[in-house]
Amino acid sequence: MDSAIRIIDVKKTFDGNDFVLKGMNLDIPKGALTAIIGFSGTGKSVMLKHILGLFKPTSGKIEVLGTDIATLPPDELTKFRCHFGVLFQSAALFDDMTVLENVCFPLLEHRREIPYKKVIEIAEEKLRLVGLDKKHFQKLPNQISGGMQKRTGLARALALDPEILIYDEPTTGLDPILTEMVDNLILETHKHIKGTTSIMVSHDLYAAFRIADYVAMLDAGRVLLFGKPEDFYKSEIELVKRFVAKGMKHQ
Ligand SMILES: Nc1ncnc2c1ncn2[C@@H]1O[C@H](COP(=O)(O)OP(=O)(O)O)[C@@H](O)[C@H]1O
Ligand SMILES: [Mg+2]
Repeated sequence: MDSAIRIIDVKKTFDGNDFVLKGMNLDIPKGALTAIIGFSGTGKSVMLKHILGLFKPTSGKIEVLGTDIATLPPDELTKFRCHFGVLFQSAALFDDMTVLENVCFPLLEHRREIPYKKVIEIAEEKLRLVGLDKKHFQKLPNQISGGMQKRTGLARALALDPEILIYDEPTTGLDPILTEMVDNLILETHKHIKGTTSIMVSHDLYAAFRIADYVAMLDAGRVLLFGKPEDFYKSEIELVKRFVAKGMKHQ
């Protein structure tokens, strides 16, 4: 199994006292969809920010596609981030730009060599890929529904053809119907783009087990269990059993 990301004995403290990551080890498989689960405050978002190079580990190492991300100088880190497409809980669209302009933005920033006409073509293709109709392309984010905003955010994340897609709680706060739509969109996007590594932090256990190839459960800054969804149902670890029981009660 090839790894896209290797987290090697990573420790992180912000204040020099409390360790948020306490020796984390995790290999995230290349080309698979991996869900990161765990109770709130266990270090899921902090881990993602280390992968993105936004935080540096206090000790340990993070390799992304074979590169030690924490040692990259700022300008190379900026370039390296083109390997990532990121979608957070809020789609974080630019309010004063149209749907199409939002998706063009990363291309205009990072692919200045591409002629403007081609940029538009690429952006339109990504919007179609995530199922957004052309009639919405010239609208502002506040003129489209929440579901369409998510689709636009995903199209923007896909603009640079990233090898790694990262989702942090993409469905938190959404109603059940929209949640299912976004989960399916993540799964379809993952399947459609061959070889993409997808990493999704989710509080929604049911969705994580339904769509993920692999699941990692974090607890108190460490990986408690990594495996296939079925490994979680079979697990004898008390905290895993509790989390699974709690997650399944909501369905
Ligand atoms: N920038 C920061 N400075 C200090 N503490 C932080 C920072 N970011 C996160 N933390 C702390 O790290 C812990 C883990 O947070 P987080 O990774 O966001 O949890 P979650 O698993 O819910 O995503 C929390 O106790 C949080 O307060
Ligand atoms: Mg979080």
